Amino acid sequence: MIPEIQQLAHQALLAGELEQKQALSKQLGAEMDALTPTPLSRGEGLSGAPLSIESIDHPGYPQQLTFVEPHLVPKRGAGSDAGRIHLFHAIAHIEFSAINLALDAIYRFPEMPIDYHRDWLKVAQEEMAHFAMIRERLRELGSDYGALPVHDGLWAMARKTDADPLARMALVPRYLEARGLDVNPGMQKRLREAGDERGVEILEVILRDEIGHVGRGDYWFRHLCRERALPPEGTYRELVDQYAKQPWHGPFHCAARRQAGFSEDELRSLGCSGEE
Ligand SMILES: [Fe+2]
Ligand SMILES: [Fe+2]
Repeated sequence: MIPEIQQLAHQALLAGELEQKQALSKQLGAEMDALTPTPLSRGEGLSGAPLSIESIDHPGYPQQLTFVEPHLVPKRGAGSDAGRIHLFHAIAHIEFSAINLALDAIYRFPEMPIDYHRDWLKVAQEEMAHFAMIRERLRELGSDYGALPVHDGLWAMARKTDADPLARMALVPRYLEARGLDVNPGMQKRLREAGDERGVEILEVILRDEIGHVGRGDYWFRHLCRERALPPEGTYRELVDQYAKQPWHGPFHCAARRQAGFSEDELRSLGCSGEE
């Protein structure tokens, strides 16, 4: 069953339009459901010979998107309409990139248990829903995804962690998506001040779902640490120090990180107190 699942995940990853990704992910879900009439026990991997896995420099993005160096992506406050368009455009790009990251987590690590693949398909589908909501908001404001330049920093982290699902789980969900939890309340505040209640509502849905994504990353990171007899917290710190540019830059959303599975020791080391 590996070839079908991997092939579909690969196709979905390379597809440039949301609607293509949605259709292929639906097929992927049907393929996973057909694996067995009853849920497989945790720990059981997929069967069959895996396809050879290639590194991907350019995953699928809509054609109209322009990529530039990170320092050339314009930044503005959320007060004016133009400022909100910048903010929603940046979030749209994060969500579209997150779709690709979740699909790549399926494609690249076929040795992982079937529940892992089901988890990342669910994440990919939630990212698609996030992207669709944000794109709709952008269109309501008279803009669209692709109207502004973007950078590929998120995908760069995927490439760096291609070789090992332990590094991938640590750096993508448990680090980058956890950063998303940290910055969400500040963005909600800016939108509330600008009177954009719909924007606030969307960000609240995203925050709730993202706690789940970080939580699945936490679960699979700890699962791999257990398998390799590694201490999870020390291993996480080492990996983040190794791969991230500004590793421990706050402020942190302590309560959301706690809900997602960060331990009290880790939270304390980030400066969170017990009540936050
Ligand atoms: Fe998301
Ligand atoms: Fe996410």
